[in-house]
Amino acid sequence: MNVLVTGGAGFIGSHTVVSLVEAGFNPVILDDFSNSEAGVLDGLEHILGFKPKTYPENCRNGDTLRRIFHEEKIEGVIHFAAFKAVGESMQQPLKYYDNNVGSLIILLQTMLECGVSNLIFSSSCTVYGEPDTLPVTEETPVKPASSVYGNTKQIGEEILYDSVAAGNALKIIALRYFNPIGAHPTAAIGELPRGVPNNLVPFITQTAAGLRESLTVFGDDYPTPDGTCVRDYIHVLDLAEAHVSALKFLLEMKATNYYDIFNIGTGHGASVMQLIQTFERVTGQSLNYKIGPRRAGDVTAVYADAYKSEQHLGWKATRSMDLALADAWRWQQAIATDKNPA
Ligand code: UFG
Repeated sequence: MNVLVTGGAGFIGSHTVVSLVEAGFNPVILDDFSNSEAGVLDGLEHILGFKPKTYPENCRNGDTLRRIFHEEKIEGVIHFAAFKAVGESMQQPLKYYDNNVGSLIILLQTMLECGVSNLIFSSSCTVYGEPDTLPVTEETPVKPASSVYGNTKQIGEEILYDSVAAGNALKIIALRYFNPIGAHPTAAIGELPRGVPNNLVPFITQTAAGLRESLTVFGDDYPTPDGTCVRDYIHVLDLAEAHVSALKFLLEMKATNYYDIFNIGTGHGASVMQLIQTFERVTGQSLNYKIGPRRAGDVTAVYADAYKSEQHLGWKATRSMDLALADAWRWQQAIATDKNPA
């Protein structure tokens, strides 16, 4: 079965392409490489033994989508393509609303027009904001978004909900990702942030590799056991496999009109300090870090209740944080320094 993977050359997208092939699906990538490298396709070829069919185009174009739906006989879509830098989204809100929300609307319109009904959407645990209770279930209230990026995910979920509620022939799952880390164990694909990484693990691996002088821990005065923020770090391959489980779930159901949301996390919270200590233990590297002020917009703690995903999708994270950090480090060592521009 042919599946369109928008943003398939990105971090989560590329790992999902691997999981799709392993599960017997035929992924077709649509990616304009605005935040990814063509070398990802070589990495995929190394793992899969072939280069997945790729359209190097923007997905916010109905003509492009229509053409691919017809040419490739697409039966399902996994929509990763989006901008994701929280800070940048506050500086350039229209760029984010245009791309993230605009692409989803055009995608849904074109799916309806072409009779493609199955969709998996990338949402985020950012919709929970600073939750009142932990772990967060899918019933935990959505809080007003603290960033434009977060708001594009909330609006995206509302668009999906309304489109299905209107009775359209659409079967849609929104996956609320927690914090993906790690890389493929072959080190042929992984995370490739451009410029200074925003996220913790790429910053850690680049610091350990000597590309950054030191990591700043953003605050150690939070009301958590060691004072640093708590997140639910999930191996990107576990996250990738969640998409396969969700797609199978949609394909097997009898309903022709369906929308639901699922948390995709491990169910375990880890603090920034725990993550640093685990990295040092599993890699044998000693990390140069210092404690700095809090980062604006960070929540104290968020981790998933992943029961609903296990119950309905039959999916559960199986890989450890040790493995994820070892894989992230192997990937960092494998990539040339010129892929990590200052
Ligand atoms: N952190 C540091 N130093 C750094 C980078 C991060 O201490 O140099 C800390 C942060 O303060 C936070 C934790 O590491 O406590 C994780 O930070 P990340 O930036 O890796 O991840 P976030 O949880 O902030 O963000 C992630 C995704 C966003 C998404 C958000 C939802 O990257 O896309 O989760 O909560 F919106």
